[in-house]
Amino acid sequence: MKNLVVYYSKTGHTRNAAEKVIASLNCDKDEITYDAASKAVTASRNPANYDRVIVCCPIHAFNLPQPVALYLTINKDKIKSYSLLVTCRLGGLKSCVANATRILGKKPLASLKINANAIPAGKYDVRPIIQSS
Ligand SMILES: Cc1cc2nc3c(=O)[nH]c(=O)nc-3n(C[C@H](O)[C@H](O)[C@H](O)COP(=O)(O)O)c2cc1C
Repeated sequence: MKNLVVYYSKTGHTRNAAEKVIASLNCDKDEITYDAASKAVTASRNPANYDRVIVCCPIHAFNLPQPVALYLTINKDKIKSYSLLVTCRLGGLKSCVANATRILGKKPLASLKINANAIPAGKYDVRPIIQSS
């Protein structure tokens, strides 16, 4: 299975978790960047070239961050299947899964919540995402 890890990260926690997935799968990666002035997202790779897109992002206000929702909306028809990894302090995985399912019209193969407090020490497990297919 050809995988692409796409991540959005404001303060680095999600980037760290995404790098762990990338290293485990030895797969391509892409970063979503957001220009607040123009409300535009940028990413470099075409998700249509991959069997599975692993979307990694923080939870913002118990939902997907706006740039991630925008990225998914723009690439809706290019994403064949996906999994969702979120980092957070409190919670909100359920509503993030609901957000992504609504936008893409399909459920993720797997979803995983990682507490940001565990990330600096590397004490978390990304296997539930890696093994999903
Ligand atoms: C604007 C904002 C809203 C947030 N909302 C939530 C939330 O609803 N639930 C939660 O558990 N954490 C929330 N957080 C905490 C982040 O999800 C958490 O710190 C995350 O790991 C940050 O990832 P990053 O370092 O990749 O940006 C919020 C953080 C910010 C900046």
